[in-house]
Amino acid sequence: MPEGAADLHEPVLRAEVVRILSPLTGKTVVDGTLGLGGHTEALLQADETVRVIGIDRDAEAIALASQRLARFGSRIRTIHGNFRDLGQHLDDIKIKTVDGLLLDIGVSSLQLDASERGFSFRRDGPLDMRMDRKGTQTAADWIHTATESELSAIIYRFGEERYARRIARAIVSARECDRITATTQLAGIIRNAVPAKYAYRRLDPATRTFQAIRMFLNDELGALEAGLAAGFERLIIGGIFVVISFHSLEDRIVKRFFREKARACVCPPKLPECICDKEIEAEILTPRPLTASPSEIEANPRSRSAKLRAAVRLR
Ligand SMILES: C[S@@+](CC[C@H](N)C(=O)[O-])C[C@H]1O[C@@H](n2cnc3c(N)ncnc32)[C@H](O)[C@@H]1O
Repeated sequence: MPEGAADLHEPVLRAEVVRILSPLTGKTVVDGTLGLGGHTEALLQADETVRVIGIDRDAEAIALASQRLARFGSRIRTIHGNFRDLGQHLDDIKIKTVDGLLLDIGVSSLQLDASERGFSFRRDGPLDMRMDRKGTQTAADWIHTATESELSAIIYRFGEERYARRIARAIVSARECDRITATTQLAGIIRNAVPAKYAYRRLDPATRTFQAIRMFLNDELGALEAGLAAGFERLIIGGIFVVISFHSLEDRIVKRFFREKARACVCPPKLPECICDKEIEAEILTPRPLTASPSEIEANPRSRSAKLRAAVRLR
């Protein structure tokens, strides 16, 4: 883990998150993706009466963020866990409802920068990629046992990688000679598998495959769907849900979830009259997702793909 990582981290769309969740006076907000605690710190600094419950499935993130946020005393409570189990986590601390919820999903700079976590193809490390290291299956384990068609399907689905088949074939043939255990070893296999012209594009040819394996291994889309439902259920009427995503598949899930909550009727369009009795449950606060400004993108290139969507619970 890089020295002082907690000091270096600037959360994405920080001012927008604070603005949308404000006024914060007397509120309890859940930060379901505490990470290095950047957003939580911004919220705690913005109002001296707000309380934050910070959840992360990564024990190292919890340890670092707890250190960073210790000066806020009892206004911050940290929980090592998955936000998909939000209801259970809140029950455990005897909290029924909250006033605001934030999810800033995906991988953190802490995880990407630590070579021993195996998330980055740019750093040589063990092929791990587990966000929660209590999980049993590492990326190396999965790559060793998955069939060629499973590899190809996952790389295509979560990485939207057009050369998924070629990459899967190359992985299977490489592992017949030697177990694939290191990030740079896998990155090399991928780079050799794709056509040469692909290698000269802006994106490293390993990017999409690494992203796909990470998303699959940590069931990131499944957790997002479950976390949205669990979170909405625990919001008070008038409570605000903010979600930042970095990937089109994630953004689509968030967009659909909020749209469905904001719709009056979910009957098939062919029905002559409404029979669903659905009521509008939310109002969308961001008809178009908020994105980072050019200056934020310059300071933090990763913010380029961030999309923030927010909704308020109405019933
Ligand atoms: C982009 S970072 C969050 C950064 C944070 N907002 C900050 O300001 O430092 C995403 C974090 O979410 C965590 N995470 C991803 N999926 C999760 C899940 N299902 N449950 C809990 N934490 C999750 C990751 O471990 C990572 O630390």
